[in-house]
Amino acid sequence: MQIIANNEVEKTILERHSVRAFSSKPISDKLIRDMVNKAARAPSGTNTQPWKVYVVQGQVKQQITDKVIEAAHQLYLGLKSKSDFKAPYSYYPATWFEPYLSRRRENGAKMYQILDIAKGNRSAMHLQQLRNFKFFDAPVGLFFTTHQDLTDGAKMAVAMLMQNIMLIAKAQGLDTCPQASCNTYHEIIMPILNAKQDERFLCGMSLG
Ligand SMILES: Cc1cc2nc3c(=O)[nH]c(=O)nc-3n(C[C@H](O)[C@H](O)[C@H](O)COP(=O)(O)O)c2cc1C
Repeated sequence: MQIIANNEVEKTILERHSVRAFSSKPISDKLIRDMVNKAARAPSGTNTQPWKVYVVQGQVKQQITDKVIEAAHQLYLGLKSKSDFKAPYSYYPATWFEPYLSRRRENGAKMYQILDIAKGNRSAMHLQQLRNFKFFDAPVGLFFTTHQDLTDGAKMAVAMLMQNIMLIAKAQGLDTCPQASCNTYHEIIMPILNAKQDERFLCGMSLG
């Protein structure tokens, strides 16, 4: 079925997609601040605005890349175990079931097919996974946190803020990729962000 955009908002929604190859062209601080401020007009239950947004570029972004890739590589080599990297919350179920299992498999298969990575080529898949932590070469990384004592409603609000950022970016000629893959490494990322002890890491995002 062909979907036709009837207005600019619909056009932006239809054009947004997750990008996994960015140019390194920098984005001005002014533009990033403007985008995040506008995105923060997202709704939140009783207007609690339960979000914090961290913007990383340059050296800090590189430090996160280096440390997370080192950890992910240790995990891949079996030098560390999954229990060494506990995610802040379960983004995915422990056991997959239909129809989500098939959708997930189709998504992975198509992505690796485009990348010309054969099924079972574990090392190539691992290298592609590491690209997440290089922010797919994007100049900007974003991280979203909430207060650790807030509940599922906060995640919904932060998700709306994230979607606003992705749409505002698209309307500006920029692209994004939301990244739950960073969650596993939140204990490495949070101290680099100087996040407070009472914050809960929710998600990462590439922007460029
Ligand atoms: C919260 C969230 C986390 C995601 N995490 C990742 C990720 O870590 N790495 C990645 O490459 N894509 C990630 N994605 C992108 C999804 O794979 C993508 O949204 C989905 O396949 C639909 O494609 P589209 O965004 O291009 O429409 C994430 C998406 C969401 C909403």
